[in-house]
Amino acid sequence: MTVSSAPGKVYLFGEHAVVYGEPAVPCAIERRARVSVEPRSDDHVRVVAEDLSLDGFTVEYEGSTRTQPDVDVDESLLSAATGYVDAAVRQAREAADAPEAGFDITVESDIPLGAGLGSSAAVVVAGIDAATRALGEPIDDREIARRAYRAEYEVQDGQASRADTFCSAVGGAVRVEGDDCTTLEAPNLPLVVGFDGGAGDTGKLVAGVRDLKDTHGFAADTVASIGDIVREGERLLAAADPDAGPDSELLDGLGELMDFNHGLLSALGVSARSLDSMVWAARDAGAHGAKLTGAGGGGCIVALDSSPETETALSFTQGCVDAFRAELATEGVRREDR
Ligand code: MEV
Repeated sequence: MTVSSAPGKVYLFGEHAVVYGEPAVPCAIERRARVSVEPRSDDHVRVVAEDLSLDGFTVEYEGSTRTQPDVDVDESLLSAATGYVDAAVRQAREAADAPEAGFDITVESDIPLGAGLGSSAAVVVAGIDAATRALGEPIDDREIARRAYRAEYEVQDGQASRADTFCSAVGGAVRVEGDDCTTLEAPNLPLVVGFDGGAGDTGKLVAGVRDLKDTHGFAADTVASIGDIVREGERLLAAADPDAGPDSELLDGLGELMDFNHGLLSALGVSARSLDSMVWAARDAGAHGAKLTGAGGGGCIVALDSSPETETALSFTQGCVDAFRAELATEGVRREDR
């Protein structure tokens, strides 16, 4: 059996503006999806994905035609979860030139689903790595990132960004601009995540920002200002010693930029009461800065704080269902079958 894991991610800066060619800095976090793969003697794929739905399920299918759902689960949930595994299997079969390969696959994940933390990208990345290794045709992390992007693009009808899959495959802090993704040197940032248990509709939120930007010059300027924040954040990271712990000057500088970034995202209409409450709770608890992460509308915030107060304060904040520390994941996709 081959087992691979891959991390989720938060945006330190730049979501939404990245859609218009501005740079963004997503960071991989130490919350992982784990995919175990055992080749089969037939061409079927059997997926056990206990953590990908509230019910847990087992399903067996050939190609994309499911033949034996073992339990009665919501069809749309089943399609969403198996869709990503299915697309990862297609990429692995193609990479290994093994179109008939069948697998038993188990997926486990400690990344909240659909919360903007890149859970689907992590499953796809870990799945491609485990499946190609199971077929004796391993591929490197950049190729996994490329194939995982294609898998997400397919499942999400062309709406995928390269940020999630690159970050998950390669790890660390990443700079995304257009189709270019590169890794950035960064010290281990003390990130704290708060989750409101929900998720915004990315398509609608992106469309809302587009409308504002097309209607008002000041909204276009707001998007451009987010790009300036990202560039300033990159300068701060580049000046820091990646091997030393982050000093308070760096954390204060990055935190101020995160606060500013959140304000501009709010102005663009993508925050939510629950996200604002968590951002303010983190700031009141002494975090260096805090902002929503991902598409917004609901989901997660990320704060910068090395003391335990922010995590504790978030866990008592109305509307927050989960709060956890999330160190920067310096490793991307990782083999776990040692
Ligand atoms: C969503 O996680 C990030 C957005 O910038 C959309 C995208 O980049 O595709 C809002």
